[in-house]
Amino acid sequence: MTQDLWGGRYRESAVWVETAQALIATTELRPGMRVLDIGSAGGGTLFPAFDRIGPTGSIVGIEVEEDWVEWLRKEISRRAIGSAEILLMDGRSMSFPDVSFDAVIVGLVGLDNDYDFDTDRILNDAPLMRETFRVLKPGCTLYTSNWLWQEDNEWMGELVRRRLPDCTKRGYFAGTGEGYVRLLEFAGFKEIRLAHFEGTYTYENPAEWAACVAYMWEEEIERIKADPETLSSFERDAFELLAGHVDSEGKVAYTRSAILVTARRPLA
Ligand SMILES: C[S@@+](CC[C@H](N)C(=O)[O-])C[C@H]1O[C@@H](n2cnc3c(N)ncnc32)[C@H](O)[C@@H]1O
Repeated sequence: MTQDLWGGRYRESAVWVETAQALIATTELRPGMRVLDIGSAGGGTLFPAFDRIGPTGSIVGIEVEEDWVEWLRKEISRRAIGSAEILLMDGRSMSFPDVSFDAVIVGLVGLDNDYDFDTDRILNDAPLMRETFRVLKPGCTLYTSNWLWQEDNEWMGELVRRRLPDCTKRGYFAGTGEGYVRLLEFAGFKEIRLAHFEGTYTYENPAEWAACVAYMWEEEIERIKADPETLSSFERDAFELLAGHVDSEGKVAYTRSAILVTARRPLA
C-alpha cells in the first residue's frame, strides 16, 4: 500500500466510512449473531457490525491483502475486541464449512471476477457470490454494496488509459441494480432488495482528491512512479484534468452514490 500522495489516505476518508455505515444501517444484525465480513480492509463495515452484534456475538473478517490483515489485527487488539478474528483468505475459496454464518457482509468489494456490469455477463461461475451463499445459513441474509458510476473516477481512469495504453483495467467496476439481481439470483439468493446511499464530499485540494482515489490504480501508478519524468507529467495531466472541477476556494467537491443490496438464502 503506497503511503504518499498516490494512496494510503482513503482509509480515513468520510466517503468510505459513511458508505460502510449506511450498509450496516440496513442490516438486521442482532446481539449474539455469528457474522462474516468479506473484504474487511480498514474495518469500515467490520467495526459497526461488531457494535450491533455485541460481545455475545462473533465476527470473522477475511481479506486478501496482507497489510490490511496485519493492520486490522492490531486495531482489534487496540480496541480489545475479543470476539473478532481476521484471516488472510480469499472469499472466492473459503475454508469455512457450509452454513457457518448468521449473516455475511460484502461491503464495497469489487465483483469483477463474478460479473461484468458493462455487458451483463456472469463470469467464472460467480465464485465470490456462490461461496457466500454456501457459508450462509438458510434463511439468513447477505448485505453487500458497491459504488455507482462516479465522474471523478472516470477522469482518473481516462488518465490511466491515456498514460498506460496497455492497461486493460477499466479502473472502476460500478455496480448496477439489474446486474446485482441477475448475479445474486444466479448464485441462488432470493428476496433481493436494492437501496441507494448518496453523500456529498469536499476535498481540500486536488492533491487530497488524488490521494483518495488513486488506490484504484495502485499497480499502474507504481509503474508510473518508477520513472520520475513519467510521474511528473502524469501528475501535471491529472491536475489539469481536475482543474475544471475545482471551486473558487481551490476545493474539489463531488457527490458519490452507492448501491446497498440485501439478499436472502432461502430456507429450502
Ligand atoms: C474497499 S475495501 C472495503 C472495506 C469495507 N468492507 C468497507 O465497506 O469499508 C474492499 C477490500 O476487499 C478486499 N477483497 C477484494 N476481493 C476479495 C476477495 N475475493 N476476498 C477477500 N477480500 C477481498 C480488497 O483487498 C479490499 O481491501
